[in-house]
Formats: sequence, structure tokens, C-alpha cells
Amino acid sequence: MTCTLKQLSPCDGHDIYDMLQRIPADENGFINDAHGMDYAAFHAWLLKSDRSAKQTGLENGWRVPSTTFWLYADGRPVGIGKLRHFLTDALRENGGHIGCAIVPEERGKGYGTILLRALLDCAREMGINRVLVTIRPENAASLKMALKNGGVIKRSTPAHHYVVLDTSR
Ligand SMILES: CC(C)(COP(=O)(O)OP(=O)(O)OC[C@H]1O[C@@H](n2cnc3c(N)ncnc32)[C@H](O)[C@@H]1OP(=O)(O)O)[C@@H](O)C(=O)NCCC(=O)NCCS
Repeated sequence: MTCTLKQLSPCDGHDIYDMLQRIPADENGFINDAHGMDYAAFHAWLLKSDRSAKQTGLENGWRVPSTTFWLYADGRPVGIGKLRHFLTDALRENGGHIGCAIVPEERGKGYGTILLRALLDCAREMGINRVLVTIRPENAASLKMALKNGGVIKRSTPAHHYVVLDTSR
């Protein structure tokens, strides 16, 4: 099995659109805002997401820019990862640097762990040395995925585990 990470492009097409329709709109705090869009709206969303990746400061005075990636396994897209370029106080409490999801039928095959590893490499290339992920206590798969990538639980509240990952590992 060959896995590849690709950055979102305004030229992405039906394979990505179809994958995004299979990932729920909101799952454990991961928001897939392309879910349920028609194909024309999806293209506008790609352009907006591509602009966000190129932004340097806050968008519209509040939104932290992020870069979106796809995980491909043997040429088929199986997952989405979003990497925020920096954190605000609000994101330090809820959101963190990284959100990701694997299509439901491909979960439990190791793709989530591979995707997170690849996103950590991207974070390092972006100059982020320590990545924060905030994980709901009931999200056992996400917590395992983070710990398998060297994550350390720094603190836990009833709402979240706060896991820090060193991108140089
Ligand atoms: C979290 C998520 C990305 C993990 O993807 P995945 O491809 O299933 O992850 P992996 O196959 O690499 O599994 C990682 C670990 O979690 C375990 N795991 C997978 N599903 C599990 C579940 N439902 N309950 C408990 N553990 C689970 C795996 O067994 C593996 O541990 P192991 O290697 O010790 O066996 C995926 O479940 C998902 O898309 N969830 C919905 C969105 C989400 O919650 N995103 C994270 C919050 S931003």
C-alpha cells in the first residue's frame, strides 16, 4: 500500500468531492463544511480553502489560516487533514492545530495514524515545532492515533484531552 499526502488544489475534482460527501459534516468536533454541497459550491469552497492556505495573518480579523491536505492510498483519496498555521487563545482551548478524518469505510486500517504523521511533517516544514491537538474524551481512535505518533497528554478536562506532539520526532 502506498500512501501520499497532497495539498488541496483548486483543480481537485470528483474523487475528492465524492470522498467529502462520505465524511460526516460534524464528527467529534471535526467539521467537514464541504459535506452536502453541490459540485459548483464545492469549487467555490476549493478556491476559498486555497486562499486560506496562502494567507499570512488572520482572515477577516478572526479566522486563523489553514492548509488542507488529502491522504491518498494506492491512488484513492481516503482522508482529509487541516493544519492551522498558528493558534489563538480560543484554539488553545478548543481546536488545536490539526483536524483530520478518514472516510468511515477505511477506518481502522492505519490511515489515520499515517495521515497525522504526514501532517506533523508539514507542520515542521511550516516552522511549527510543537503541535497541539484537542481530543474529546470519548474519541478513543483519535487519542490512540495521537499517542502512536508520540503525543503526550499535557492536561485533561471533562471536555478535552490536550495532546502535544513534537514535530521533530
Ligand atoms: C480519528 C480517525 C481519523 C482515526 O482514523 P483511523 O484510520 O481509524 O485510525 P487508525 O486506523 O490509524 O487507528 C488508530 C488507533 O485507533 C484504534 N481505533 C480505531 N478505531 C477505534 C475505535 N472506534 N475505538 C477505539 N480505538 C479505535 C486503532 O485500533 C488504532 O490503534 P492500534 O494501532 O493500537 O490498534 C477516524 O476515526 C475518524 O475519521 N474519526 C472521525 C473524525 C475525528 O474524530 N477526527 C478527529 C478529531 S479532529
